[in-house]
Amino acid sequence: MKFNILGVFLLSTAVSFVWSQEAVQLPETEGPYVTGVNDFEFTRPVDPQEGDLTDSGTDSQTRRLMARVWYPICRKDPMNEEGCSDAGSALGRRRLYFEVGEAEATVPAGLNAFSYFQNLSAAETQSYLDAAPLLVEQGPFPVLIYSTGATGWVSSNTVLLQELASHGMIAVSLAHTGGLTGVQFPNGDVIPIDDDYVEALQENNGLRSTDTAPMNSSDLGVRFEGEKQFLQDGRGLAKYNLQWVNDEIALANYMEETARTNSSSLFGQLLGSNNNSISSLVYIGGSFGGGAAAVAAHKDPRANCAINMDGVGQSLDVFDASLRVPLLLFVTSTTLKGNYFENEFFYEPVQSMGSDPKIFRIKISEMTHTDFYDVIYGPEDVRQAFGGGTLDGMLIHDMLQSYFLGFITTTCLGDGNWTLETTFQQFPNTAEVVDVSYVSEWWAASESPPPAAGPTSMSLEDSSATTPTGIISSLLTATSLLAALLTWE
Ligand SMILES: *[C@@H]1O[C@H](CO)[C@@H](O)[C@H](O)[C@H]1NC(C)=O
Ligand SMILES: *[C@@H]1O[C@H](CO)[C@@H](O)[C@H](O)[C@H]1NC(C)=O
Ligand SMILES: *[C@@H]1O[C@H](CO)[C@@H](O)[C@H](O)[C@H]1NC(C)=O
Ligand SMILES: *[C@@H]1O[C@H](CO)[C@@H](O)[C@H](O)[C@H]1NC(C)=O
Ligand SMILES: *[C@@H]1O[C@H](CO)[C@@H](O)[C@H](O)[C@H]1NC(C)=O
Repeated sequence: MKFNILGVFLLSTAVSFVWSQEAVQLPETEGPYVTGVNDFEFTRPVDPQEGDLTDSGTDSQTRRLMARVWYPICRKDPMNEEGCSDAGSALGRRRLYFEVGEAEATVPAGLNAFSYFQNLSAAETQSYLDAAPLLVEQGPFPVLIYSTGATGWVSSNTVLLQELASHGMIAVSLAHTGGLTGVQFPNGDVIPIDDDYVEALQENNGLRSTDTAPMNSSDLGVRFEGEKQFLQDGRGLAKYNLQWVNDEIALANYMEETARTNSSSLFGQLLGSNNNSISSLVYIGGSFGGGAAAVAAHKDPRANCAINMDGVGQSLDVFDASLRVPLLLFVTSTTLKGNYFENEFFYEPVQSMGSDPKIFRIKISEMTHTDFYDVIYGPEDVRQAFGGGTLDGMLIHDMLQSYFLGFITTTCLGDGNWTLETTFQQFPNTAEVVDVSYVSEWWAASESPPPAAGPTSMSLEDSSATTPTGIISSLLTATSLLAALLTWE
């Protein structure tokens, strides 16, 4: 079965929009640096362990990827916040949120029609397009590698990444070719989402998010086995986890390699003060990208930390096992469901689940899965149509900044005195720690460890048949599209 509807939409709508000029107001950066922004592409060798995941950006040996980087270019001039204090040189122009043609190429066609996305095309970000860094000697700057959710787009967290760059960080958003709605390369090539990926999404939804899914059982043992077998069999989106993890680590490799081979390249300038290597590295992601970020940080010895915004583990590497690095894990009702917490068996061994002090699980009340993306800066009715919550968008902006800056600075870089309490006190009654001690208690109470997952223990095959609607009908219902898309972990 083929799912070409998305591609058809993209083609048929690309020519027909007249953009409104009424720009959305985006918040200004608060850090001490002026920021630049640059799109680039790179390739990586395909890892045979990824399995047969060829798509239009990948042949049997090479995978083509693009990314967007925000980086500090100079200190802000206290007299003129838009400019550099120690360089009179022209910085060029600020990047628009979407440059011409970009929304049509990267955002699902149904969403293109929303005035919010049209208006974003006219919105100026604060970052100067392709500007050269002027103060490299101020480094080393930590590197943050960000992955959006399944079917997302490279700009989905522009405001947050630009903000972090303004605090002296190199923040890169990586587009996973084939897994995002559309990936636009610097030379203009556009690669739409892959049919196989859409099918995997549909299977994921059918297997994980139904009433009869083993992962939704009230019996913890059934859930444990169900999750384990899902991962062992590489079902749903789990089969793409390694591809995304390899993409992320390859991006860090590319940055160092480019710096070493070309001192006048952007990364040569940004990493030059640290002998062309990354000094500190944090993998960050939302939804499916959040699950991948934690695994990338676990595997990449350069990584100090990971931040997972409401994404499921999706890999045996971090299932019933200790994560190597500290993790800030945000949770909403998407992953903390009525009956169960979708990450309940991840990042620590089940027998001691909840005891590792470097795993921070934060449930922000009233915040939803889609509230982690730039849609919080749009009009309230649009945000609601996308499944947004009731918490004020600018409050979320300020609060996430406090978590991100505190966690990165203190926990990842070892410089500062932030604790969860710092943010809890700053934003009272907004969040709580998720208690997963019931998992280790269950383990201790069970007579013997849960049996290894076997073919008789669950019915993944049966539930896969129960997904007639899935992404196709969602594509046809534009108002629920973003919520539906980003909800798939
Ligand atoms: C977006 O544009 C529409 C017109 O197309 C306008 O009515 C609306 O107020 C704009 N929204 C914002 C947040 O600027
Ligand atoms: C899972 O179980 C809970 C509690 O029994 C129920 O409310 C929910 O609808 C079920 N289905 C899904 C898809 O979570
Ligand atoms: C090094 O980087 C600069 C700036 O991006 C570029 O103009 C130049 O062609 C690169 N040199 C090589 C040998 O790739
Ligand atoms: C700089 O990096 C190179 C490898 O790229 C290494 O051989 C060299 O020892 C490093 N120098 C310092 C001072 O760390
Ligand atoms: C934490 O650091 C800030 C800024 O350096 C300082 O003002 C504050 O007193 C410190 N708090 C504690 C509890 O040490």
